[in-house]
Amino acid sequence: MNKNIFITTPIYYVNAKPHIGHAYTTVVCDVYARFCRIMGYNVKFSTGTDEHGKKVEQSAINNKQTPQQFADEISGLFRNLLPILNISNDDFIRTTELRHKKTVEHFWEKLSDAGYIYLGKYEGWYDIRNEAYFAESELIDGKSPLGGDVTYMTEPCYFFKLSAFGDKLLKYYDEHPDFIFPISRKNEIVSFIEQGLTDLAISRTTFSWGVPVPNDPKHVVYVWLDALTNYLTVNGYPENENQNNDPYWQNVIHFVGKEIVRFHALYWPAFLMAVGINPPKQIVSHGWWLSEGQKMSKSLGNVQDPYKYCNIFGSDALRYYLLRELTFGADGNFSKEGFIKRYNSVLADSYGNLCNRVLSFIQKYCNGNINRPEKLTDDDKNFYRSVSDCIQSCPQLIQEYSFNRYLEKLEHAITLSNQYLDNQKPWTLKTSDKNRMSATLYVCLENIYKITKMLYPVIPVASEKFTKILNIETSFTYNPDEKLPDNIELGEIKILFPKISDCDVDVYANV
Ligand code: MSP
Repeated sequence: MNKNIFITTPIYYVNAKPHIGHAYTTVVCDVYARFCRIMGYNVKFSTGTDEHGKKVEQSAINNKQTPQQFADEISGLFRNLLPILNISNDDFIRTTELRHKKTVEHFWEKLSDAGYIYLGKYEGWYDIRNEAYFAESELIDGKSPLGGDVTYMTEPCYFFKLSAFGDKLLKYYDEHPDFIFPISRKNEIVSFIEQGLTDLAISRTTFSWGVPVPNDPKHVVYVWLDALTNYLTVNGYPENENQNNDPYWQNVIHFVGKEIVRFHALYWPAFLMAVGINPPKQIVSHGWWLSEGQKMSKSLGNVQDPYKYCNIFGSDALRYYLLRELTFGADGNFSKEGFIKRYNSVLADSYGNLCNRVLSFIQKYCNGNINRPEKLTDDDKNFYRSVSDCIQSCPQLIQEYSFNRYLEKLEHAITLSNQYLDNQKPWTLKTSDKNRMSATLYVCLENIYKITKMLYPVIPVASEKFTKILNIETSFTYNPDEKLPDNIELGEIKILFPKISDCDVDVYANV
């Protein structure tokens, strides 16, 4: 079985500062990547910035900068956000890097050698914001279907023979039923193809900020062709030319927002098929975050800033909220009140308080030292079994990208732990039966440890803090039968998630 996996975020446009929506795609990929690692996979995980195109050229001019200066600045913001969100990426690709330019040139030549490129003339409605042409029939209320303003343009340009790929793509989707996730997005793409594919304009002459077309530098390569090939650059192409034999390419998953599925599930596999490279294994698409009920926009002043949330509440808190709040694939609403409510009820009151209750009790009444009990009661065994059931359902839920249900399961295991403690009442046992008191604490601690290890992909900082308090060496690997050492000697106890109280209003008013 291939134990290598390649996980990618889309590469982000450098025309605007990163916001919660961008952070979401990256965090989802990070959680998936960390999860794959704990399941024993070798993971390659890439992200980066998409820096060419007319939009960037224009924004740079407006800012009195060169496109390169402008791109350097905004790309830096995306790169700097990664450690703040605690992202475990292996690579950060910029489309302005030389290694990428080489890939694009090579890929173009391969497409051309295979006979899939020809020179023609383009006329149509061009959406600058989204860098795409549309036919008159596709416009909605005078705007592009992506919502951007359009201008009628005509230019000589190179075309890719996309029309030759309709049947091949449909056959590919049939043979690979999981290729597009979720299935509803697949239906959209299939019906788009069934209406008939036209050839795709893949070069531009109206601006120069891009990779020049090999042997015809008046043209620059269409920004989507340029951007999509980033995935090959990261995987060592063209030096690593035989991608079909590459274990990472065989298992490449592109995570994307719902609005860019067409580029990834239709254009990208067609380009790849044209040069004889197998399409990716899966395109996984997620929904959109609205902010306080509306699309995030500068003019509405409702853009949510991931830096601020991480600086004030910590990256774990933001990561948890993003994955728990949204049903993957659907749209959701980001609100400060919702964030604080979720943080307080789950991370502070339920999980954080559970950890703190048990750890402080052990510190106070057992001198920070407890041993595995010799005997377990039926209550103990039932408790172990129920927590174990929750944990064992997690891998499947993550494989189905049901991140919120996976966290719900673990929240249920936390509730069971709190109930166990309430029923066993170690605070009463401390005078009546010290041995049993210590046994219940150990049993509870061992279950919290198992839950915490399963929460690691989402809240890595707290999980590591917790295992440090237990003074144990642990590798974060999935093992539902894993046990704590028979003797635990606690280290210094730290509060994992301090409650946000009403007195903190001033602090979070700044978010
Ligand atoms: N540059 C292209 C991708 C090229 S990949 C070869 C692009 N960039 S983007 O910056 O506009 O978007 C990048 C990702 O951020 C997309 O997956 C998009 O869905 C995501 N989001 C941007 N705003 C979002 C929300 N409000 N909510 C959730 N995700 C959204 O497209």
